[in-house]
Amino acid sequence: PRPILLTRHGESRDNVRGRIGGDTVLRLEHISFEKFVISFIESLRASCYLQYCSEDQHLAFAQKCLNVNLDAGEIYAKKLADFVEKRLKSEKAASIWTSTLQRTIITASPIIGFPKIQWRALDEINAGVCDGMTYEEIKKNMPEEYEARRKDKLRYRYPRGESYLDVIQRLEPVIIELERQRAPVVVISHQAVLRALYAYFADRPLKEIPHIEVPLHTIIEIQMGVTGVQEKRYKLMD
Ligand code: F6P
Repeated sequence: PRPILLTRHGESRDNVRGRIGGDTVLRLEHISFEKFVISFIESLRASCYLQYCSEDQHLAFAQKCLNVNLDAGEIYAKKLADFVEKRLKSEKAASIWTSTLQRTIITASPIIGFPKIQWRALDEINAGVCDGMTYEEIKKNMPEEYEARRKDKLRYRYPRGESYLDVIQRLEPVIIELERQRAPVVVISHQAVLRALYAYFADRPLKEIPHIEVPLHTIIEIQMGVTGVQEKRYKLMD
Protein backbone atom coordinates (compact mmCIF):
# COMPACT_ATOMS: atom_id res chain seq x y z
CA PRO A 1 0.00 0.00 0.00
CA ARG A 2 1.10 3.55 -0.59
CA PRO A 3 -0.10 6.53 1.40
CA ILE A 4 -1.72 9.72 0.19
CA LEU A 5 -1.36 12.46 2.80
CA LEU A 6 -3.99 15.20 2.65
CA THR A 7 -3.62 18.45 4.55
CA ARG A 8 -4.84 22.02 4.49
CA HIS A 9 -2.25 24.81 4.43
CA GLY A 10 -1.12 26.31 7.75
CA GLU A 11 -3.51 28.82 9.24
CA SER A 12 -3.53 32.05 7.25
CA ARG A 13 -4.39 35.57 8.31
CA ASP A 14 -7.65 35.26 6.44
CA ASN A 15 -8.49 32.13 8.40
CA VAL A 16 -7.89 34.06 11.60
CA ARG A 17 -10.13 36.91 10.43
CA GLY A 18 -12.76 34.50 9.12
CA ARG A 19 -12.41 35.75 5.54
CA ILE A 20 -12.99 33.27 2.73
CA GLY A 21 -10.89 32.77 -0.40
CA GLY A 22 -8.11 35.24 -1.13
CA ASP A 23 -4.39 35.01 -1.79
CA THR A 24 -1.73 37.10 -0.03
CA VAL A 25 -1.67 40.58 -1.56
CA LEU A 26 -5.29 40.62 -2.64
CA ARG A 27 -6.58 41.64 0.75
CA LEU A 28 -5.87 45.37 0.66
CA GLU A 29 -9.42 46.62 0.20
CA HIS A 30 -10.49 44.86 3.38
CA ILE A 31 -7.85 46.09 5.77
CA SER A 32 -7.60 49.27 7.82
CA PHE A 33 -5.90 52.33 6.39
CA GLU A 34 -2.98 51.88 8.77
CA LYS A 35 -2.46 48.29 7.65
CA PHE A 36 -2.84 49.39 4.04
CA VAL A 37 0.01 51.90 4.45
CA ILE A 38 2.20 49.29 6.14
CA SER A 39 1.61 46.70 3.46
CA PHE A 40 2.06 49.32 0.72
CA ILE A 41 5.49 50.18 2.13
CA GLU A 42 6.26 46.48 2.46
CA SER A 43 5.35 45.83 -1.14
CA LEU A 44 7.52 48.74 -2.28
CA ARG A 45 10.37 47.29 -0.28
CA ALA A 46 9.59 43.86 -1.68
CA SER A 47 9.69 45.02 -5.26
CA CYS A 48 13.24 46.38 -4.81
CA TYR A 49 14.34 43.48 -2.66
CA LEU A 50 12.86 40.75 -4.85
CA GLN A 51 14.95 41.68 -7.85
CA TYR A 52 17.99 40.34 -6.03
CA CYS A 53 16.74 37.22 -4.32
CA SER A 54 16.04 33.59 -5.06
CA GLU A 55 12.60 32.04 -5.13
CA ASP A 56 13.05 30.65 -1.62
CA GLN A 57 14.01 34.05 -0.23
CA HIS A 58 11.05 35.52 -2.10
CA LEU A 59 8.73 33.06 -0.39
CA ALA A 60 10.28 33.66 2.99
CA PHE A 61 9.72 37.37 2.47
CA ALA A 62 6.14 36.93 1.31
CA GLN A 63 5.57 34.76 4.35
CA LYS A 64 6.93 37.46 6.61
CA CYS A 65 4.92 40.34 5.32
CA LEU A 66 1.68 39.16 3.93
CA ASN A 67 -0.15 35.94 4.22
CA VAL A 68 0.57 33.23 6.70
CA ASN A 69 -0.15 33.78 10.35
CA LEU A 70 3.42 33.63 11.55
CA ASP A 71 2.57 31.84 14.73
CA ALA A 72 0.33 28.91 14.01
CA GLY A 73 0.73 28.71 10.22
CA GLU A 74 4.48 28.75 10.22
CA ILE A 75 4.81 26.34 13.11
CA TYR A 76 2.51 23.93 11.28
CA ALA A 77 4.58 24.19 8.10
CA LYS A 78 7.68 23.14 10.07
CA LYS A 79 5.89 20.34 11.91
CA LEU A 80 4.47 19.08 8.63
CA ALA A 81 7.95 19.10 7.08
CA ASP A 82 9.33 17.02 10.01
CA PHE A 83 6.43 14.60 9.75
CA VAL A 84 6.74 14.18 5.98
CA GLU A 85 10.51 13.77 6.09
CA LYS A 86 10.21 11.02 8.74
CA ARG A 87 7.15 9.32 7.27
CA LEU A 88 8.45 9.29 3.68
CA LYS A 89 12.17 8.91 4.45
CA SER A 90 12.65 5.80 2.34
CA GLU A 91 10.19 6.83 -0.36
CA LYS A 92 12.47 8.30 -2.97
CA ALA A 93 9.76 8.82 -5.59
CA ALA A 94 7.27 10.63 -3.34
CA SER A 95 6.06 14.09 -4.36
CA ILE A 96 4.42 17.14 -2.83
CA TRP A 97 1.42 18.66 -4.60
CA THR A 98 0.14 22.14 -3.76
CA SER A 99 -2.35 24.58 -5.22
CA THR A 100 -1.10 27.71 -6.97
CA LEU A 101 -2.04 29.88 -3.96
CA GLN A 102 0.70 31.29 -1.77
CA ARG A 103 -0.58 29.80 1.47
CA THR A 104 -0.11 26.21 0.25
CA ILE A 105 3.22 26.93 -1.47
CA ILE A 106 4.51 28.58 1.70
CA THR A 107 3.26 25.66 3.81
CA ALA A 108 5.22 23.27 1.56
CA SER A 109 8.38 25.37 1.54
CA PRO A 110 10.12 23.82 4.61
CA ILE A 111 9.74 20.31 3.12
CA ILE A 112 12.96 19.39 1.36
CA GLY A 113 14.08 16.42 -0.67
CA PHE A 114 10.91 15.84 -2.70
CA PRO A 115 9.71 17.36 -5.98
CA LYS A 116 6.88 19.89 -5.65
CA ILE A 117 4.13 20.28 -8.21
CA GLN A 118 1.59 23.13 -8.33
CA TRP A 119 -1.90 22.36 -9.61
CA ARG A 120 -4.44 25.08 -10.36
CA ALA A 121 -7.09 22.39 -9.92
CA LEU A 122 -6.10 22.25 -6.24
CA ASP A 123 -6.91 25.96 -5.68
CA GLU A 124 -9.66 26.71 -3.17
CA ILE A 125 -13.29 27.01 -4.28
CA ASN A 126 -13.63 30.33 -6.10
CA ALA A 127 -15.98 32.46 -4.01
CA GLY A 128 -16.44 34.95 -6.89
CA VAL A 129 -17.92 38.27 -5.73
CA CYS A 130 -17.79 37.02 -2.12
CA ASP A 131 -14.03 36.45 -2.18
CA GLY A 132 -12.47 38.13 0.84
CA MET A 133 -15.73 38.52 2.76
CA THR A 134 -16.66 36.91 6.08
CA TYR A 135 -19.79 34.74 6.33
CA GLU A 136 -21.33 37.48 8.50
CA GLU A 137 -20.75 40.07 5.78
CA ILE A 138 -22.32 37.84 3.15
CA LYS A 139 -25.33 37.27 5.42
CA LYS A 140 -25.74 41.00 5.99
CA ASN A 141 -25.03 42.34 2.50
CA MET A 142 -26.22 39.50 0.29
CA PRO A 143 -28.89 37.68 2.32
CA GLU A 144 -30.36 35.85 -0.70
CA GLU A 145 -26.97 34.44 -1.60
CA TYR A 146 -26.36 33.40 1.99
CA GLU A 147 -29.73 31.69 2.15
CA ALA A 148 -29.31 29.95 -1.21
CA ARG A 149 -25.98 28.52 -0.11
CA ARG A 150 -27.36 27.44 3.23
CA LYS A 151 -30.18 25.58 1.49
CA ASP A 152 -28.03 23.75 -1.06
CA LYS A 153 -24.33 24.10 -0.35
CA LEU A 154 -23.40 21.38 -2.85
CA ARG A 155 -25.06 23.01 -5.87
CA TYR A 156 -24.85 26.68 -4.87
CA ARG A 157 -22.54 28.59 -7.19
CA TYR A 158 -21.05 31.89 -5.95
CA PRO A 159 -21.82 34.72 -8.41
CA ARG A 160 -18.84 34.75 -10.79
CA GLY A 161 -17.38 31.87 -8.78
CA GLU A 162 -17.80 28.14 -8.30
CA SER A 163 -19.99 25.54 -6.62
CA TYR A 164 -18.84 22.37 -4.88
CA LEU A 165 -20.01 20.48 -7.97
CA ASP A 166 -17.70 22.66 -10.09
CA VAL A 167 -14.81 21.89 -7.75
CA ILE A 168 -15.53 18.17 -7.86
CA GLN A 169 -15.50 18.29 -11.65
CA ARG A 170 -12.23 20.18 -11.94
CA LEU A 171 -10.58 17.70 -9.56
CA GLU A 172 -11.06 14.83 -11.99
CA PRO A 173 -7.59 15.06 -13.60
CA VAL A 174 -5.98 15.31 -10.14
CA ILE A 175 -7.79 12.15 -9.04
CA ILE A 176 -6.78 10.29 -12.19
CA GLU A 177 -3.15 11.27 -11.60
CA LEU A 178 -3.34 10.34 -7.90
CA GLU A 179 -4.71 6.92 -8.84
CA ARG A 180 -1.89 6.41 -11.35
CA GLN A 181 0.92 7.29 -8.94
CA ARG A 182 2.86 4.38 -7.48
CA ALA A 183 4.69 6.48 -4.91
CA PRO A 184 3.24 8.44 -1.95
CA VAL A 185 1.84 11.90 -2.56
CA VAL A 186 1.41 14.75 -0.06
CA VAL A 187 -1.46 17.04 -1.12
CA ILE A 188 -1.40 20.49 0.50
CA SER A 189 -4.61 22.24 -0.44
CA HIS A 190 -7.74 23.89 0.94
CA GLN A 191 -10.89 23.02 2.84
CA ALA A 192 -13.44 22.64 0.01
CA VAL A 193 -11.02 20.87 -2.33
CA LEU A 194 -9.87 18.44 0.36
CA ARG A 195 -13.47 17.66 1.29
CA ALA A 196 -14.02 16.58 -2.31
CA LEU A 197 -10.77 14.59 -2.57
CA TYR A 198 -11.30 12.91 0.77
CA ALA A 199 -14.89 11.99 -0.15
CA TYR A 200 -13.64 10.30 -3.30
CA PHE A 201 -11.14 8.10 -1.47
CA ALA A 202 -13.30 7.47 1.61
CA ASP A 203 -16.30 6.76 -0.60
CA ARG A 204 -18.56 9.34 1.03
CA PRO A 205 -21.84 10.37 -0.64
CA LEU A 206 -21.96 13.50 -2.76
CA LYS A 207 -24.41 15.33 -0.53
CA GLU A 208 -22.11 15.04 2.50
CA ILE A 209 -19.10 16.60 0.77
CA PRO A 210 -19.64 20.28 1.71
CA HIS A 211 -20.00 19.32 5.39
CA ILE A 212 -17.07 16.91 5.90
CA GLU A 213 -14.70 17.92 8.71
CA VAL A 214 -11.25 18.75 7.40
CA PRO A 215 -9.65 20.65 10.29
CA LEU A 216 -6.56 22.81 10.05
CA HIS A 217 -3.19 21.44 11.21
CA THR A 218 -4.22 17.83 10.76
CA ILE A 219 -2.90 15.26 8.28
CA ILE A 220 -5.34 12.74 6.87
CA GLU A 221 -3.43 9.68 5.72
CA ILE A 222 -5.17 7.45 3.23
CA GLN A 223 -3.66 4.04 2.52
CA MET A 224 -4.60 2.56 -0.80
CA GLY A 225 -4.20 -1.20 -0.51
CA VAL A 226 -5.55 -4.31 -2.19
CA THR A 227 -8.03 -4.76 0.64
CA GLY A 228 -9.42 -1.25 0.27
CA VAL A 229 -8.80 2.14 1.78
CA GLN A 230 -7.63 2.79 5.33
CA GLU A 231 -7.50 6.12 7.07
CA LYS A 232 -5.45 7.66 9.89
CA ARG A 233 -5.53 11.24 11.18
CA TYR A 234 -2.57 13.01 12.76
CA LYS A 235 -3.36 16.24 14.58
CA LEU A 236 0.01 17.98 14.70
CA MET A 237 -1.24 20.96 16.72
CA ASP A 238 -4.40 22.82 17.77
O1 F6P B 1 -12.36 29.54 5.34
C1 F6P B 1 -11.37 28.84 4.68
C2 F6P B 1 -11.88 28.35 3.34
O2 F6P B 1 -10.86 27.61 2.74
C3 F6P B 1 -12.35 29.47 2.39
O3 F6P B 1 -11.33 30.03 1.61
C4 F6P B 1 -13.39 28.75 1.57
O4 F6P B 1 -14.28 29.61 0.89
C5 F6P B 1 -14.05 27.90 2.62
O5 F6P B 1 -13.02 27.50 3.51
C6 F6P B 1 -14.77 26.68 2.10
O6 F6P B 1 -15.55 26.14 3.12
P1 F6P B 1 -17.14 26.33 3.11
O7 F6P B 1 -17.58 25.68 1.83
O8 F6P B 1 -17.61 25.60 4.33
O9 F6P B 1 -17.48 27.78 3.11
